[in-house]
Amino acid sequence: MELKGKVALVTGAGQSTGMAIAQGLLRAGATVIATDLEAPAWEAKVGADRLIREALDVSQEDQVIGLVKEMNRRTTGINVLVNNAGIYQWALLKDMELKDWERMFAVNSTGTFLCIREVVRGLLTREASGSIVNIASVGGKNAFPSQSHYCASKAAVIGLTRSLAVELGPEGIRVNAICPGSIDTPMLAKVREDIAKNTGQSLAEVKKGMITSIPLRRFQQPEDIAMLAVFLASDNARNINGESINLDGGMVRD
Ligand SMILES: NC(=O)c1ccc[n+]([C@@H]2O[C@H](COP(=O)([O-])OP(=O)(O)OC[C@H]3O[C@@H](n4cnc5c(N)ncnc54)[C@H](O)[C@@H]3O)[C@@H](O)[C@H]2O)c1
Repeated sequence: MELKGKVALVTGAGQSTGMAIAQGLLRAGATVIATDLEAPAWEAKVGADRLIREALDVSQEDQVIGLVKEMNRRTTGINVLVNNAGIYQWALLKDMELKDWERMFAVNSTGTFLCIREVVRGLLTREASGSIVNIASVGGKNAFPSQSHYCASKAAVIGLTRSLAVELGPEGIRVNAICPGSIDTPMLAKVREDIAKNTGQSLAEVKKGMITSIPLRRFQQPEDIAMLAVFLASDNARNINGESINLDGGMVRD
């Protein structure tokens, strides 16, 4: 996979999946702008001279506008965007407050929209092609009780992906999504804790139940998501547009 000469912005890249994606893009030769609520602290083993680390809260419009503008000025221009930043919360509908719903959408959906809009504005001005990869979730296609706002926010990302792929395709900008199932990260650890707390099962029982629901009987690792993100970002995926690809060991078949 060759990404030499490309400039990639990754959100939520301080740890786990976003960090693996940023490192995968560095290995493929891209200049990478790794962002998170606080500027990522990890050291790059490959391509350290091509790594830019910045703070970015994707739910804040002024921050997104400012960062993309500044990075387009400092580099040859962003042409790959990976919208990875995301939050999760356990909440039954009866307990869900408006602020819970709004926060979920502010980060997972509006944050994705804002980053795409600003990066695309730059691409259109420069008449450059680009690739946008949104990290959605199988939750956007499937039903996860107690996570209805999370699932709805990820379904919004899938809908955005489809429509923008059609709108931006003629401009040479591809838009795709990855729908992970269960990535072994702190977010998944929190899901397991919440299920245990709310069902009375032990953590070991919850883990076993989750693994059993996956035909391949294993969780995804951040590197699994990174490999697909790098592929979708690259010209090897030049005919792939508007897809929301499950990466879940066969858990969901929609
Ligand atoms: N872990 C899973 O099982 C799983 C499954 C499906 C989809 N996903 C999605 O994959 C993505 C990565 O998840 P993860 O498991 O690596 O989670 P994680 O919690 O380990 O990492 C998420 C990162 O996003 C950052 N973030 C949170 N709010 C932000 C904001 N407002 N602005 C910028 N950054 C922000 C966090 O600081 C964190 O570094 C998320 O979009 C998540 O919804 C995860």
